[in-house]
Amino acid sequence: MFLDRLKTFKSYKTETTPCRVKLSSNENPYQLPQWLKEKIAQRVKEIPLNRYPDPTSARLKEVIADFYGVKPENLVLGNGSDELIHLLITVVGNLDKPVMYPVPTFPMYQVSADILGRPKAEFPLDENFQLKKEFIDRALEKEPQLAFFASPNNPTGNSFDRQLILYTARNNVFTAVDEAYIDFSDREDFVKEAVGNENIVVLRTMSKIGLAGIRLGVLIADPETASLLDRARPPFNITYPTQVIGEVVLTEGREEIKKQVNVLISERKRVMEEVKNIGGIRVYPSDANFFLIKVPDGEKVHRLLIEEGVLVRNMSHLPGMENCLRVSIGKPEENDAFIEALKKVMGRL
Ligand SMILES: Cc1ncc(COP(=O)(O)O)c(C=O)c1O
Repeated sequence: MFLDRLKTFKSYKTETTPCRVKLSSNENPYQLPQWLKEKIAQRVKEIPLNRYPDPTSARLKEVIADFYGVKPENLVLGNGSDELIHLLITVVGNLDKPVMYPVPTFPMYQVSADILGRPKAEFPLDENFQLKKEFIDRALEKEPQLAFFASPNNPTGNSFDRQLILYTARNNVFTAVDEAYIDFSDREDFVKEAVGNENIVVLRTMSKIGLAGIRLGVLIADPETASLLDRARPPFNITYPTQVIGEVVLTEGREEIKKQVNVLISERKRVMEEVKNIGGIRVYPSDANFFLIKVPDGEKVHRLLIEEGVLVRNMSHLPGMENCLRVSIGKPEENDAFIEALKKVMGRL
């Protein structure tokens, strides 16, 4: 009885089918180099695990602030950006006023809103998965107080029209620009806007650049907004190991991250070209570490790819995404395995 609400609840679905080549979760396929792991191991050994971590993550915040070119006062840290999304939905505006976001997008906006029973003003994207003013205006009529724009968007891969994001913010909506994939894009980010406006914030994550395992998300805002949001954060949400590992990697590992990101960007270009050459497949543009394809039979291609040992994400169940599969960029040899498997599968349709 007490949990009846959860019986029809749409929770976040993860893809865990075991497979030789995993291109389904938009992770960085590369491990950290051994020399950096040794440094981490040394620092982790010294952690007094009987003690609570620094609730303010002061040292880590200094490192992250330097990494993003902002000040520590501009930051709120989360146990992954998932936690920051939930925090925003919990505290921004009145809980009886909707959260607006386009569909398809990252499902956690819907999941978090539903957990709280907060109304949603979902609105569609156009046929190229781009924002459209007409649809935003219709969502604004529902008087939302919080908006999420994942740009580059997951699962479509494209970046959104900057002016329409700013237009939403100007309409008195607290606007979160989720830049989880910005490292793979050459578009201008919203950091300047977040630091200079009380109703615009940016979300970043370490998950896509090689640290999905430590769960570290970052919110960038003006100091007043950041300090208010920080009041609602669980006090010890950033674990001791996460603080230490974050510090080491974001100081000594910066070059390595940059190198890995560059390889992934060039691999994205290569794989997308090769998939276009197969024929019969629509390849959507991407600014992220994954890309979207439309095939003649999404369910079947997904299943046959698994039989070939390659796991991608089937998006066919989402509105407007019939027969669409999302493919994360892996290491060159994993990408080759995907291309070969896809050629074989397409030949069997
Ligand atoms: C757009 C977007 N935002 C946020 C996240 C969650 O990131 P984190 O691992 O930091 O919780 C993801 C993960 O896939 C994402 O695609």
